[in-house]
Amino acid sequence: MIDAPPPADLRLRAATDADARAIWTVHTRAIRISAASHYTEDELDAWVNRMQPESYLGPLHTRRLIVAEMPGPEGPRIVGFGQLHPDEAVIEAIYVDPDWERQGIGTALVKALEDDVRARALPWVVSDASLNAVPFYLAQGFRQVALDHHELAPGVHIACAVMEKHLPAPPSAEPPPR
Ligand SMILES: CC(C)(COP(=O)(O)OP(=O)(O)OC[C@H]1O[C@@H](n2cnc3c(N)ncnc32)[C@H](O)[C@@H]1OP(=O)(O)O)[C@@H](O)C(=O)NCCC(=O)NCCS
Repeated sequence: MIDAPPPADLRLRAATDADARAIWTVHTRAIRISAASHYTEDELDAWVNRMQPESYLGPLHTRRLIVAEMPGPEGPRIVGFGQLHPDEAVIEAIYVDPDWERQGIGTALVKALEDDVRARALPWVVSDASLNAVPFYLAQGFRQVALDHHELAPGVHIACAVMEKHLPAPPSAEPPPR
């Protein structure tokens, strides 16, 4: 497991409707560039074509959607995002802009979503990870439990890895009964 700190000026916050286009930009760039190591051009096309900036407006209200921001010359810039299905404890997305990879931003996003799951006293968190992201999830303490497939478009299926992590309950504040 890793414990490198994220950049000191990284800020995580809840996403808003105004962030939809920036989230879409990060999402599509991460797929095109970072997932290209494990998927074909046709698969990447089908994956990217599923989403538009408006695609995030629904999840903004039904999911826990957070963004990672870094300061820039023109103001804060969204460099990553994460999406959690809070009731089912499923991490549905963690994406970091390729220009900002390997700086601890993905780790910071996962930790924030795990904190949400813990706050609901749910003991497990799961994710269907793209194959390129498996080493990242392993570094977060997840284990791979299966391989699966997602249908991106009629006839286009991509392999993914089902990852899970046990979240032990925090020690009780109450002293144990005598
Ligand atoms: C996977 C992803 C979210 C990782 O984000 P990140 O900010 O680069 O991750 P971190 O910097 O927090 O990485 C933490 C650790 O994970 C591991 N890791 C991350 N990316 C890795 C890679 N490409 N190869 C091997 N190990 C990797 C390393 O152990 C890393 O620690 P280190 O940099 O000190 O070696 C990012 O690469 C991404 O968006 N990829 C494309 C989109 C995607 O597939 N997302 C998952 C969909 S479910």
